[in-house]
Amino acid sequence: MTVSVIVPAAGLGTRFGGELPKQFQSLAGKPILLHVIERFLLDENVARVVVPVAEQLLPAVRQTASDRVVFVAGGESRQESVMRGLEMIEESEIVAVHDAVRPFFTPETFHGAVAAAREFGVALPVLPVNDTIHVVNEDVVMHTLERSTLAAAQTPQCFQTEILRDVLQRAQVDGVNTTDEAGLAVRYGYTVKIVAGDPMNFKITRPEDLAVAEALILRWSKEA
Ligand code: C5P
Repeated sequence: MTVSVIVPAAGLGTRFGGELPKQFQSLAGKPILLHVIERFLLDENVARVVVPVAEQLLPAVRQTASDRVVFVAGGESRQESVMRGLEMIEESEIVAVHDAVRPFFTPETFHGAVAAAREFGVALPVLPVNDTIHVVNEDVVMHTLERSTLAAAQTPQCFQTEILRDVLQRAQVDGVNTTDEAGLAVRYGYTVKIVAGDPMNFKITRPEDLAVAEALILRWSKEA
């Protein structure tokens, strides 16, 4: 069985603060994105890690590529970047799409999602939602969602390769743009299974998250 991974990293958003997009910010001395790539490379089931990056950054990152890592120019949107990444994948049975700022996924989470995708088509790790979620309009609550029916999506989101290809092509034809490919698969009628996510597998989005991430790296390095 072969698995390939796409890590869309072509966004230039700097909401995080600082000059660099958050996936290139340093965590324990190297870019967050590199932690993610290296973690996938530790997994011998992973044939290839494809990383769409902003075109102007390609010359800088190509030099760091191992033969299992391929950097490609991303597109205008995350979805387009994933499509460009998928063009570099031919043989794999499963493709995983993973956020560039989630360096703490475990092999258990990854393998659980891969196994469920092999069986059902598409799978992603989720966490229960602990906060009540209200639907609001300006500063008024319109209605309240039933918490037990909600799940917070994590990555790696895993797909049988042909399914990911199909839903991305259909979305392009239909002019649908999304930040969540599993949601696209639901839209086009595929079964999308959920597996247990992991609270450690968080997205580094705010400066406070980086401090937590630094502490975790230190703890993991001591345990190793
Ligand atoms: O900007 P946003 O947080 O929605 O981006 C989500 C992810 O998609 C980020 O990892 C970003 O680097 C990636 N992205 C991309 N190509 C784009 C825009 C965003 O790969 N054109």
